[in-house]
Amino acid sequence: MKAPIRVAVTGATGHIGYSLLFRIASGAMFGPEQPVILQLIEAPIEKAIKALKGTVMELDDCAFPLLKDIVKTSDAAVGFKNANWCLLVGAKPRGPDMERADLLKDNAKIFIAQGKLIDAVAADDVSVVVVGNPANTNCMIAASQAKRLPYDRFTAMVRLDQNRAQTQLAKKAGVDFTAIENIFTYGNHSPTIFPAFAHATIAGKPAEQVINNDAWLQGPFYEAVGKRGADIIAVRGTSSAASAANALVDHVRSLATPGSMHSIAVKSNGVYGFDKDVWAGVPVRTTSPGRYEVITGYSMDDFAKFKLAATNKELIEERAVVNML
Ligand code: NAD
Ligand code: LMR
Repeated sequence: MKAPIRVAVTGATGHIGYSLLFRIASGAMFGPEQPVILQLIEAPIEKAIKALKGTVMELDDCAFPLLKDIVKTSDAAVGFKNANWCLLVGAKPRGPDMERADLLKDNAKIFIAQGKLIDAVAADDVSVVVVGNPANTNCMIAASQAKRLPYDRFTAMVRLDQNRAQTQLAKKAGVDFTAIENIFTYGNHSPTIFPAFAHATIAGKPAEQVINNDAWLQGPFYEAVGKRGADIIAVRGTSSAASAANALVDHVRSLATPGSMHSIAVKSNGVYGFDKDVWAGVPVRTTSPGRYEVITGYSMDDFAKFKLAATNKELIEERAVVNML
């Protein structure tokens, strides 16, 4: 049996947390051979602490063979201690008629504090994944606090957008989800996220050729992916939770699996026209568990360049807001 890894999760009793913890403990995230210790962090408010106690009772009652211990705390310094993975979910979600960027004022301070603490107490090999919105910019904020850890340990989740794009293409083409490959999502986790359909394939053929409807790809498809979060809020009343937890399972599993090609938001070095130092969704290839290289060289046509510029502009604007906070 391998040694257990320590997985810290913030917002452990929130909507996403409740869908997520049981999947980590069951082995969905790190595989059936990898034992885990869950380090669960909640806000220091009575209701959340009580709910955390109940969630831990339920985790106990599952008797998961891979779950070796559970730490429950409202002290993030305890929760992040020696963590190999820090999954930063805990943050305010948006409501109807809000954009994710409207959350910056409330959520930015969480990521300043947590970035500092993770840098101080987490394991040397830690990987940090930011889910709390606006995820790209919160990731930039957390990473900016690190002195010991290199910036490439901090990634933000755009996998939900990739999964949404995959589903839209599969439904339009009338094929199984597994027939869709090489669909990657670029830029900001917001309505401007760009699913680069020109590189996608459906059962091995170019998606553009199979769909044969540029107007749909450049309009309804692109819009459905970007607006899906708001559409879910409009009908569910609260933001996506189980699908977000599932995307986080996918994000971490892909990032822990060498050879995987997937979309994550990372610090830009200028590739695909993103401003240096914004955190933009790009395709990556995992090189070793927790480490990746950005896949460069996908050619972008005028439509793609226009959309990449729009999502880049939004990331620059969010960064400017952070500078004013
Ligand atoms: P929620 O309100 O149900 O849960 C958030 C939890 O975080 C609460 O239990 C709260 O007590 C806790 N929390 C708040 N501040 C904390 C702190 N400093 N430390 C630890 N815990 C803290 O919200 P949710 O639906 O679980 O969503 C969480 C976040 O994830 C939101 O910002 C939401 O917008 C975002 N989200 C991102 C994506 C994505 O694709 N990146 C998808 C869905 C949701
Ligand atoms: C989503 O994409 O579903 C989440 O980011 C939640 C939201 O605010 O849209």
